[in-house]
Amino acid sequence: DAPLRDLAAAKGKVVGTAVSGGKLNGTYADIASGQFSSVTPDNAMKWGSVEPSRGSYNWAEADQIVAFAQAHNQQVRGHTLVWHSQNPNWLTNGSWTAAQLRTVLQDHITTEVTRYKGKLAAWDVVNEAFNEDGTYRSTIWYDNLGSDYIAQALTTARAADPSAKLYINDYNVEGVNAKSTALYNLVKSLKDRGVPIDGVGLQAHLILGQVPTDIQKNIQRFADLGVDVAITELDIRMQLPYTDAKGAQQKADYKNVASACAAVTRCVSLTVWGFTDSDSWVPDVFSGYGAATPYNESFAPKPAYYGIAEAF
Ligand code: XIL
Repeated sequence: DAPLRDLAAAKGKVVGTAVSGGKLNGTYADIASGQFSSVTPDNAMKWGSVEPSRGSYNWAEADQIVAFAQAHNQQVRGHTLVWHSQNPNWLTNGSWTAAQLRTVLQDHITTEVTRYKGKLAAWDVVNEAFNEDGTYRSTIWYDNLGSDYIAQALTTARAADPSAKLYINDYNVEGVNAKSTALYNLVKSLKDRGVPIDGVGLQAHLILGQVPTDIQKNIQRFADLGVDVAITELDIRMQLPYTDAKGAQQKADYKNVASACAAVTRCVSLTVWGFTDSDSWVPDVFSGYGAATPYNESFAPKPAYYGIAEAF
């Protein structure tokens, strides 16, 4: 069978996976490179990973993943520059004036984006800015700088690497709801104001049998604003144990999501958040849930894999 990356390419799409640098050898590396045309570092480019103490950078794992991608003719999706989570303690626990924090943020974005200038297809510039009701999430950024931190981050990223597509990324924004509508209104207003924004990332951490029925419509409404859309972190978790019936439902769910992307020209990529159940964040975070990815723990493709393949 043709690998996913060839099937996606035939439809003009990119198919990606999140990866950990430490696992990029053996079968894991073979599947990551053979099946996927894009990689996203799962943690390696987060602020706490790259700048654990102020001014002292650790690029080893991020560099490794970029080199792996280049060696295998893959895109890299940078993830993520501005977030409330996985920040270094010196940042979280520091006491900052607004002016200082603005400078810290600008310096961080400029340093990291410049390091990978010309090498990344896209950056998730701002991650998870909204609450479920569509209000802005209270974070170190919003609380100190107001919502304009988003425009400032995008403008700074654009200046550092004009060739990377700049995204805003969030979860529970796959269907039409209060949160996705707030994101929609933000993107519209950024476009109206001439702030650089190229795309919207729908994380798509979904639950078995609960793919929003209006996902294609939602993707299309973002596309109609004149931005690209990416499915950035797809996984579909089930209550354990795995059964064949759940596997069949999961295949249908994966196929639904991939078909929705396939149907919209400006849906440019679909990335899974880890391709194997042995390397998924789900069991650690959602108690009792797992088996969320397209490959089982022994690196064998599950029905979910064929759901993606059939959609592309
Ligand atoms: C997750 C990683 O996969 C885990 O290894 C880490 O412990 C926590 O973060 N949304 C995101 C990703 O944007 O960065 C998160 O990744 C999953 C949820």
